[in-house]
Amino acid sequence: MSEAVDQAKQAVGYAAADLVESGMRVGLGTGSTFVYVLDRLAERMRGEGLELIGVPTSEATAARARELDIPLTSLDEVDELDLAIDGADEVDPMKNLIKGGGGALVREKIVASAARRMLVIVGENKMVDRLGATFLLPVEMMAFGRRQVAAELRKLELEPQLRQNQDGEPYRTDNGNMIYDCKLGSCEDLGGLEIEINSIPGVLDNGLFVDMAEKILIGDESGKVRVVD
Ligand code: 5RP
Repeated sequence: MSEAVDQAKQAVGYAAADLVESGMRVGLGTGSTFVYVLDRLAERMRGEGLELIGVPTSEATAARARELDIPLTSLDEVDELDLAIDGADEVDPMKNLIKGGGGALVREKIVASAARRMLVIVGENKMVDRLGATFLLPVEMMAFGRRQVAAELRKLELEPQLRQNQDGEPYRTDNGNMIYDCKLGSCEDLGGLEIEINSIPGVLDNGLFVDMAEKILIGDESGKVRVVD
């Protein structure tokens, strides 16, 4: 990653962490931008006595939060979250998202749905005119019956490709499932498509986050952050 891209991620991650207030229950997202949120939250806990409890969206985030002594809980222990902060792979002008590049889309959507507000942190390069312009849409499905799922996704003209790990084996999510990365053509009804994909037996969820984000924080390579409300 170039230093400038890293600087944009840090700026936007820190800006989001600075919006966390003491006492909040916070959904903790996943990805290379989100790690900066964790760093800054830990710094604020040490420096200003910020108190929070987090619900992680992945094993990787949980492990990093534990290293930083950020207290964690699960969704079984709280009624709702005050705020969820997370990255995204694409953001359209209506603040709809594609997520799941890091494979955590199912937990990320559950956590964001449990939160009163969702704040999204991205670099300028993630802003697109339409979802699917630069990134494939991840669909998490059970390994059992995956051929049938692929056939149904093809009927929706989504051209599924099985995600693989570095060894060329099917990638496994934290939930033990697999992912089809799908080509998303132009779509007038993202909410309808989200439901249609999820109604395929064996599909757990997909990376369309429609009407969920309240604010988008966008970092640029000079370290400036702008907000889309
Ligand atoms: C993980 C995600 C991430 O939030 C998304 O992939 C963005 O990651 P990064 O900040 O590394 O670009 O959806 O499932």
